[in-house]
Amino acid sequence: MNISIIGTGYVGLPTGVGFASLGHNICCIDKDLDKIDRLKKGEIDIYEENLEELFCKVTEEQKLTFSYSIKEGIQNADLIILAVGTPTEQNSDKADLTYIKEASKEIAEHLSDRYTILAIKSTVPVCTGDMIEEIIDRKNCDVISMPEFLREGFALYDFFNPDRIVVGTNSEKAKKVIQQLYDGKNILFTDRRSAELIKYASNAFLATKIHYINEIADLCEKTGANIENVAKGLGLDSRIGNKFLNAGIGFGGSCFPKDTRALLQTANEFNVEFSLVKNVIEGNNKRKKEIAQKIIQKAKSIKKQENKSIRIAIFGLAFKNNTDDCRESPAIEIVQNLLNEDFIIEVYDPKAIDNAQKILKNKVTYYKYPEMCAFRADMLILLTEWEEFKILDYEKIYEIMNNKILLDYRNLLDEEKMKKIGFEYERIGKKYD
Ligand code: UGA
Repeated sequence: MNISIIGTGYVGLPTGVGFASLGHNICCIDKDLDKIDRLKKGEIDIYEENLEELFCKVTEEQKLTFSYSIKEGIQNADLIILAVGTPTEQNSDKADLTYIKEASKEIAEHLSDRYTILAIKSTVPVCTGDMIEEIIDRKNCDVISMPEFLREGFALYDFFNPDRIVVGTNSEKAKKVIQQLYDGKNILFTDRRSAELIKYASNAFLATKIHYINEIADLCEKTGANIENVAKGLGLDSRIGNKFLNAGIGFGGSCFPKDTRALLQTANEFNVEFSLVKNVIEGNNKRKKEIAQKIIQKAKSIKKQENKSIRIAIFGLAFKNNTDDCRESPAIEIVQNLLNEDFIIEVYDPKAIDNAQKILKNKVTYYKYPEMCAFRADMLILLTEWEEFKILDYEKIYEIMNNKILLDYRNLLDEEKMKKIGFEYERIGKKYD
């Protein structure tokens, strides 16, 4: 099948590479000329597990090509996938549909006379498909919703092992083509508006689950219960499920925060009371400030005793593990709060330093190696759940730190082991005196 994908970000590029590896002819289109030039040279500017290897393979086989022109890139397309960004609007919480509208207008201008499907993979508010259909205004083009459920950092794994494929269309012709594309995989076909809403409802539900477990963690900290035992017990109920019950510093990224805000906006527009999602958004915003305050109080108490500048080492800046993405990263927000105080902040992340630098500029010191970052630190704080942090040599880190305070705010490390080494150690969802 000839597939054109518009938008080469964290969704568009892995999707293109994935379909190309299944034998389809893919043209990835982006209006960012530099980006397309770099991709043509084989340079990828996002980190995704296994992406580089598969990218090299499919470009060598000429299954994946690039273009910055929609006109050129969609010429032979049987299927056009819209995967452009839908960030939050500048002066509101609505999803900004500028890129969606611009791309749709260009597609409408350059569609050929053959039958084409335009699939919206970008996360868009319910009823956006109707608007795009009006822009396209062609009998030989079906506008369908094909929401994306890939997780950043695991995009290719999720592409090849999807939990579900949801497609919103009433067109039998389009259904046939999509069935062929997914070759025997189970597809849930719905009407277009429902498919659009499934995406938001899923992200908001998962965000709610995380916020819920974070609130239970707060209660554990007050009462002396242990969040990990509580989460384990909760998760054993198959109706609840054991995923997304890791308490931490709040959810972030380019999806949950913006999608919960946009869903609330949609509910407001349609006069539907949405107090749950509203509370989740507010509670999650508050959480990052509270975690920062907890750190500030601790750091200030050392300062009071020792009367010197406090050195704080941060491990992890990406919004979660396995990605270099720092958009709405809770770790970055916590660091920004710490910067209002008079502390020396030193940071390390396995993949996200370049992106973090764009936000934090020269206000912190960046390190290539975790041990260098922890050297002479008074406090070491884990803010992203990288697997790499589990296997560091903490005995060595203990030796080179000044004050031996370890705040494991992603509940990653073995508490007994850390205490045995000698750290003053704390995690989330447990009471410490
Ligand atoms: C999320 C969804 O999981 C994907 O299904 C969806 O396709 C994607 O948004 C999207 O809309 O494009 P993603 O943003 O990549 O994926 O990240 P998640 O793995 O869902 O994590 C989101 C945030 O929640 C991270 O900050 C993570 O650290 C946090 N989290 C996650 C927790 O604090 N606890 C958990 O138990 C799980």
